[in-house]
Amino acid sequence: MKSKTLLIALSLTAFAFMSKSCMNEEKKSEKTEKQTTAVEEGKQEKAAKEIEMTPLEKGKSIAQATQAALGKNLVQAISERGTAGAIEFCNIEAIPITDSLAKIHRARVKRVSDKNRNPDNAANEAELAYIENAKNQLAADQNIKPQLKEEDGKWVAYYPILTNAMCLQCHGNADQVNKEALAKIQAHYPKDKALGYSENEVRGIWVIEMAN
Ligand code: HEC
Repeated sequence: MKSKTLLIALSLTAFAFMSKSCMNEEKKSEKTEKQTTAVEEGKQEKAAKEIEMTPLEKGKSIAQATQAALGKNLVQAISERGTAGAIEFCNIEAIPITDSLAKIHRARVKRVSDKNRNPDNAANEAELAYIENAKNQLAADQNIKPQLKEEDGKWVAYYPILTNAMCLQCHGNADQVNKEALAKIQAHYPKDKALGYSENEVRGIWVIEMAN
């Protein structure tokens, strides 16, 4: 119950931050209407229950909450320890942060890539197909659509992860990454494939598994 309320609070926050919404407009207005009626009745609790998020919306709010937590911690780690110092942070903390948010939402959360740094984050065949598609949509200047499917009685949703300028400190061309940071990356991830990116590229995807 508590986690559901939290999830809804997070998702409402997430709406405010969404620049390019890929949500179904119809569903969105439906939800706003339901919410308003319930709040008018003064039943906050009921309002929370009545907001029926679609699995795509729910997955998106989980992905965004996780991304926000990771991003905040990463920025803090860089400012406190520098880029090279922050590599350790990503190495040690990224998966636990992802896992703890997954627990709160009773979902499974993965961050995978076609050019993964951590061998545990390699995309599987279906994920690779989505990434390929996402790259094509981006190249065609389209909004990248999330994808939802049902698998073994669960919902599985994919959302793109794009690069910005900040990411290039650790994912840019080898000559853009400072020497100390590069050495740390190579030491921790001898099979690293995650260099050579520029801004606004598909760096990977969120894979969110939710109970059906
Ligand atoms: C301080 C260095 C650093 C910065 C800055 C950074 N990353 Fe990473 N990134 C890493 C490290 C190290 C890993 C491996 C984490 C692990 O072991 O799970 C990683 C892993 C990832 C992964 C998981 C897939 C994989 O390759 O293992 C994604 C996706 C990712 N980063 C995206 C981004 C994006 C997007 C940005 C910018 C918003 C960014 N990173 C900024 C260091 C960084």
